[in-house]
Amino acid sequence: VTLSTNKELYGLSFEEINHAIDGGIYAELIQNRSFEDGVPPLNCPFDASRNLLITPNGWTLPFIKPDSIPGWHCLSPNTNIYPDSKELINDANKRSLLVSANASAEGGRGGVVAEGYKGIPLRKGEKYNLSLFIKGATITPKTVHVTLEDSVKASVLSDIASFPASYEWKQFYHTFTANRDVDNAVLTISVDTSAIFWLDMVSLLPEKTWNGRPNGLRADLMEKVKALNPAFIRFPGGSFVEGYTAGTYPVWKETIGNVAGRKHFWGVWSYGTTNGIGFHEYLQMCEDLEAEPVYVVNSGVTSQSRRPRYEDITAMDKLVKDALDAIAYANEPADSTYGAMRAKNGHPKPFGLKYIEIGSENYGQEYAKRFALFRDAIKKAYPNITVISSSFISRKNRADWVDSHFYSTENFFISNNDRYETDKNYRRSQGVFIGEFGSVSEKETSTLQNAIGEACFLIGAESNPDIVKRLAYAPVFINTNFERNRSAMIAFNNTQIALSPSYYLLQIFANNQGDEVLKTEVDTYKRPQITFGRAAIELFDNSYDIKDVKINNTSITDAVVQTGGWKMDDGTFVPDANRWNYVLMGDSTMHDYELSATIQRTKGSGQIQFRLRDNGMVDEK
Ligand code: AHR
Repeated sequence: VTLSTNKELYGLSFEEINHAIDGGIYAELIQNRSFEDGVPPLNCPFDASRNLLITPNGWTLPFIKPDSIPGWHCLSPNTNIYPDSKELINDANKRSLLVSANASAEGGRGGVVAEGYKGIPLRKGEKYNLSLFIKGATITPKTVHVTLEDSVKASVLSDIASFPASYEWKQFYHTFTANRDVDNAVLTISVDTSAIFWLDMVSLLPEKTWNGRPNGLRADLMEKVKALNPAFIRFPGGSFVEGYTAGTYPVWKETIGNVAGRKHFWGVWSYGTTNGIGFHEYLQMCEDLEAEPVYVVNSGVTSQSRRPRYEDITAMDKLVKDALDAIAYANEPADSTYGAMRAKNGHPKPFGLKYIEIGSENYGQEYAKRFALFRDAIKKAYPNITVISSSFISRKNRADWVDSHFYSTENFFISNNDRYETDKNYRRSQGVFIGEFGSVSEKETSTLQNAIGEACFLIGAESNPDIVKRLAYAPVFINTNFERNRSAMIAFNNTQIALSPSYYLLQIFANNQGDEVLKTEVDTYKRPQITFGRAAIELFDNSYDIKDVKINNTSITDAVVQTGGWKMDDGTFVPDANRWNYVLMGDSTMHDYELSATIQRTKGSGQIQFRLRDNGMVDEK
């Protein structure tokens, strides 16, 4: 039987990680434009000895001084700036910037400097659109001057915009024209007398954005995305969709409309998000790329791999309704409630969303219960939408497709070339959506070795189009000016882009698919060795027992049960009665192995079997 190739196989997973979005594809040039950054998430405890913040789900973050204002500094020594939570432009914005400027001491100027995302790149003759809110502290009007300057030579790089600071908040606009090419400009906001004033939502966007969209995307990066010819974009994450806890994951309604009214929150990757690229912008991006949108919603589970928190099962209505409303916003006609909202935001025609994923990297019974609520409601209202689960779920409640993520060494990818050939049992009965895929590197981007491993796996995936429905690379971007969370496919700073071997690999594969699948055999690999403690089962309650652990059908006795706790990034073990880890210590010299174990429920009835994989993943059998 000849199989046709899957022309929709290759896509990308977009997520706010590594400053991929804010300071990345989002064309906004001002970092911390609404002064919300710098507040530690959720009042995390501070470990002074290690200079770390500890988030409620156990992530350790570099300490950020509670009142610091990332991306901004004072123009003159006698100017003081404070984050202010009382004078606000609206309810969504929780902080403004209070500037107490003293102009007399410092060459006639006092005020503040916006550093951008480690510099603002300007190109001669190009236009830059400024908007900002200003409020003065006294009735006497003061004039506030705004200009683009060279951060090194303090020379002016544009015309000067002057605005009166009145007693009420007022929004001002100006279009600058850059008079020189500079990679590290700054935006100064100054007065030439002493004055007190507040600022909020200071935004600077280049007039030229990708496809000319307002509130748009950085053209050079998006052209690289376009060249990959992605069939779909999965967004907005990833763990970003999980959040730390309620309030730290994206809710689509809080990410649309006027950018000044969008919610800011700390994402799981340890920095704030403006949500300037929100649900509407993602849908528009997909349309402009001619790629199908795959929208991922929070499943009612946050931070599952750390310290899981489950939305009360009786309180899931809001999340389920949000998912239905998101589909309505994307798909209903312009004269419907949500269609009208979309039309008001500039897109009367429906976007045609066909795929929705419930959660990311969520699993287990608690997830399954919540997944079923989403699936039932979505299938009832929109039977043609493909519903994707983030892990395997029992046959009764199953999804249309199931998401599987692969981050591993090149050896893993080489040895799993036949993954979808060999597992003939359950796999052939359910479509697999590989929502995140990438060989992990110690460097900022993947290496040639990584890409070769990935290529072997892709050949296997391409050869099984009846099973592998979609495959997305992740993470796609890394901004090298900021701390790295994961290696990625495309590295960039404000002016340069470096494409990794994985980028070229994907470009070759996605742009050169044949019509028929031909038989491919790979026999040049060895299975990777088991590394100490790599194979693990993590269960989130203690109603199971692990038994019968075998390697190649031989029982092993050294399965270690690490009960009641979780490991932090620095290796310390924090007790937690809700988390039970069963860690199998394999013989680290063994090759070509198969691990298996029986997990038995000790409370209630029934038995679940899992197969342990060499990358530590557990597949339900
Ligand atoms: O791609 C980076 C992260 O890796 C994703 O957020 C998460 O889903 C995965 O573990």
